[in-house]
Amino acid sequence: MNRETNDLLERADALARDRLSDKRLGHTTRVAVTAERLARLHSLDPQRTRLAALLHDAAREMDRRDLLRRAEEWRLPLGGPERENPGILHGPVAAELARRSLGVADEEVLEAVRVHTTASPGMSPIALAVYIADKIEPARDYPSVERLRKLADTNLADATREALRRVIAYNEGRGRSIHPESRRALAWLEND
Ligand SMILES: [Fe+2]
Ligand SMILES: [Fe+2]
Repeated sequence: MNRETNDLLERADALARDRLSDKRLGHTTRVAVTAERLARLHSLDPQRTRLAALLHDAAREMDRRDLLRRAEEWRLPLGGPERENPGILHGPVAAELARRSLGVADEEVLEAVRVHTTASPGMSPIALAVYIADKIEPARDYPSVERLRKLADTNLADATREALRRVIAYNEGRGRSIHPESRRALAWLEND
């Protein structure tokens, strides 16, 4: 492992510890272990995948007002869905935080952090690994999780497609709006 990546991993870990409650830190640590394992299994860079996973929820405990304020200040894309549900900004805000406060310049790592809330068409393999690791880390417990775990070991895009279908159906069932980026991501994964 090169020294720069090692240094960033330590700083990302410190950032997560600093910004997250024990409960969310536990989740982040489990996502990092899961994402790194998937990276090795699918011949991705384990350290860069781990870095993205450690950073993915760094803004998860900011309140709605702070997320909106940061997004405005940093000129992040802010549409109707984000204004209606500012919580989904915790991905883009975490990515920008990683860029600005840790100096992360690896665009693939930043993308994985940014899109972990909605998924995105054309997302990179590292972004797929983080997206699905977030959904299947060992503490996750819902009816289809074992199937997703098996699928993730076989194919990251297939697992992400299934996870997205589930999230969209779940939210539709509750009358919640679906982010257009999630629909585009699903269409991309279905046509791939
Ligand atoms: Fe998240
Ligand atoms: Fe998460």
